[in-house]
Amino acid sequence: MAQSALFIIFGGTGDLAYRKLYPSLFRLYEKGYLKDDFAVIGTARRPWTDEHYHEVVMNAIADDGHESDRTNSELAHKFASHFYYQSHNVNDTEHYVALRNLADKLDAKYNLKGNRIYYLAMAPRFFGTIAGHLKSEKLITDHGYNRLIIEKPFGRDLQTAKDLNDAISAAFSEEQIYRIDHYLGKEAIQSIAALRFGNEVIGSLWNKAHIDNIQITLAESLGVEERAGYYETAGALRDMVQNHILQIVSLLTMEEPKAYTASELRDRKVEALRNIKIYSPEEALQNFVRGQYGEDADHEQLDYRHEEGTDENSQIETFVAGKLETESPSLAGVPIYVRTGKRLAQKSTQISIVFKDLKQNIFANSESDTKLAQNVLTLFIEPDQGYRFDINVKSGEQSYGVMPIHLDYHKSAAKKAKVPEAYEKLIHDALDGNRTNFAHWHEVAQAWRIVDVVRKTWDKQDADFPNYVSGTMGPEAAEELLRRDHRTWVYNPKR
Ligand code: BG6
Repeated sequence: MAQSALFIIFGGTGDLAYRKLYPSLFRLYEKGYLKDDFAVIGTARRPWTDEHYHEVVMNAIADDGHESDRTNSELAHKFASHFYYQSHNVNDTEHYVALRNLADKLDAKYNLKGNRIYYLAMAPRFFGTIAGHLKSEKLITDHGYNRLIIEKPFGRDLQTAKDLNDAISAAFSEEQIYRIDHYLGKEAIQSIAALRFGNEVIGSLWNKAHIDNIQITLAESLGVEERAGYYETAGALRDMVQNHILQIVSLLTMEEPKAYTASELRDRKVEALRNIKIYSPEEALQNFVRGQYGEDADHEQLDYRHEEGTDENSQIETFVAGKLETESPSLAGVPIYVRTGKRLAQKSTQISIVFKDLKQNIFANSESDTKLAQNVLTLFIEPDQGYRFDINVKSGEQSYGVMPIHLDYHKSAAKKAKVPEAYEKLIHDALDGNRTNFAHWHEVAQAWRIVDVVRKTWDKQDADFPNYVSGTMGPEAAEELLRRDHRTWVYNPKR
């Protein structure tokens, strides 16, 4: 059903708006979720005109990789005509008054029913000021809904996250805040719940009696690109582990929700994160390893410290591997190995559930290997989307040998193309008031508690960087982390 709403995008001239927000809004418009009753106000410091803004929006749609004629279609022009630009200094109260006047005018013109979505696509240090002004200058309506969408990084540690949360909570209630973690908008991440709770076979095996260990890899082949300014203050632990990886951990380790609703899911996820052990500094050092990329083997790619904008002695990690422990009732004792890094062998996000060895192997005396391969269920998240289940079958020889095979399902390119992109889904959900795939404050806070101790422990000691070759799967210490538990990473493209 078509929705009526006014979007106010702070950071309207920025990269996120261009690459993700405008194309996503257009796709929602093409599909009819947005029709005549919507408007967008883009704000930022630059003095753009509405005409220039329309051009930018049209270009954003064109660059989204769709047929070029779509850009010049009547539909695209009509869509862009709903966009208004207002130059804005976030600290200047007068500017909010002007913004309110424009918002009220558009509300009447497009019949928006007082529904407003404020999208803060800019640095978090402005969140508090903006939220406070939206309230004091009465942009927040009382006859429609008001929703605040914010992007990470949500703080640098628990304390700064709390301060940020207090600042925005002075103007918006938790129910009105939509914290984006774009991994939660990915189709294959959303499918985890269906896999676990929609299959008797899988659901009944998803526990400590049957699972030996869980592995999560978020590997990137790209380096830091043009983002050194941000990355130098973040590093892989804050950039990927605190949010995306721990969100995935919560979905994999939560107990079964009573129903697939936002509040049930949130409660189970918060519980799951609270069940992750908070390490002592010594345990953090034992269970987490960090890395920073050097050149590739052919000396063609720069090492991190020579990328544009990085510090030549940078102590920032571009790789993290860690072992997490859960005390959840059904998975207590099952180690969860996580890993992420830039300039790794391939871009691939995947999760492997490694099942225990058979208690008894009746084929031990046959001609097959005495040890049977473990069953492994792998979830391919991106770019490949699908599943693989490794099982043992008779080998087909005259004698009774047993060997492993893979049951594979990979979504076709045509099917993948039909899946809405993460931002499109999340904006659609925000319009719908559906908070299922947004991070609750309790989740964010607990995730900081888990990573803060690692960060603080690392900050006390200089690392010996760079310590991995670009194009590999990270430093040797990441292999050792599993080897000492007599395990190996299932996903190992360079083995
Ligand atoms: C972002 C990080 O949250 O996720 C980036 O800030 C990272 O550093 C990106 O590259 C990876 O996302 P995706 O969807 O490409 O796996």
